[in-house]
Amino acid sequence: MSPKPIRKAVFPVAGLGTRFLPATKVVPKELLPVVDRPLIQYAVDEAREAGIEQMIFVTGRGKTGIVEHFDIAFELEKTMTERGKDLSVLEPTRATPGDVIAVRQQVPLGLGHAIWCARAIVGDEPFAIFLPDELMVAREGGTGCMKQMVEAYNEVGGNLISVLEVPMEQVSSYGVIDPGAADGALTEVRGLVEKPPLAEAPSNKIVSGRYILQPEVMRVLEHQGKGAGGEIQLTDAMAKMIGQQPFHAVTFDGARYDCGSKVGFVEATLAIALARPDMGAEVRAIAEKLLG
Ligand code: UTP
Repeated sequence: MSPKPIRKAVFPVAGLGTRFLPATKVVPKELLPVVDRPLIQYAVDEAREAGIEQMIFVTGRGKTGIVEHFDIAFELEKTMTERGKDLSVLEPTRATPGDVIAVRQQVPLGLGHAIWCARAIVGDEPFAIFLPDELMVAREGGTGCMKQMVEAYNEVGGNLISVLEVPMEQVSSYGVIDPGAADGALTEVRGLVEKPPLAEAPSNKIVSGRYILQPEVMRVLEHQGKGAGGEIQLTDAMAKMIGQQPFHAVTFDGARYDCGSKVGFVEATLAIALARPDMGAEVRAIAEKLLG
């Protein structure tokens, strides 16, 4: 019997984005554009490609622009139509009525708490989570990260997280897995630890912003105390589910950019611009000139 389908995705977007101040004082980090699409658009496109229908945004004060982005801009569309302009560029921002839902996290108490804020909408179904500041880019002709994860989920069920390998000295900034048996891109997860000291890190495989979780995680989060950094951590709640339910990691076949950091954001912008047929050659020439 195949596992219950993944129809819902939670996008926690209530963080303060302090690393990008002053840019994020008024504009949410998730609306910062990589070339000409905001970060949140890349994440929603990846969800749609994976067959996900319902997009649940966990927002906070000043974040309503994210929900607006997926509404119809009536005056803009009317004026563009009158001027004979092509509206197809807005196509990815159109949502099926009723399929964009916003819930509020009043205080940013941590990623785990943000996910828990979506519990009533998630209900009793497995669901996906996307951290939009981690930009996952498919290989040319390949599929996106969540689609790869859903394919793996259809085989093994349970809980899945995407992982990638980083140099060992960087692990203390991330959630890290204790890996078990591996089969191709799929690795069994025996344990999870958030921001471990280097000496205690069980591997260099870090959790990278995409998850498929069973609804039981909401019950665990209900009682989850503060962890690393004084925040309610999703990693700690997931760690408690290991052994109770199947738990696997998927190594994404594609590129990942950490757009929560300034250098990662610049890297993503360059990589995406260079790969775009409409501007790649021009950007390459500019980059070569700048590099002397
Ligand atoms: P980050 O750790 O990147 O935090 O959160 P941040 O606030 O966005 O950015 P900095 O560190 O201050 O620069 C990872 C993801 O979890 C969400 C964020 O919006 C981001 O998508 N998040 C984090 C919440 O929704 N609520 C929280 O309480 C914490």
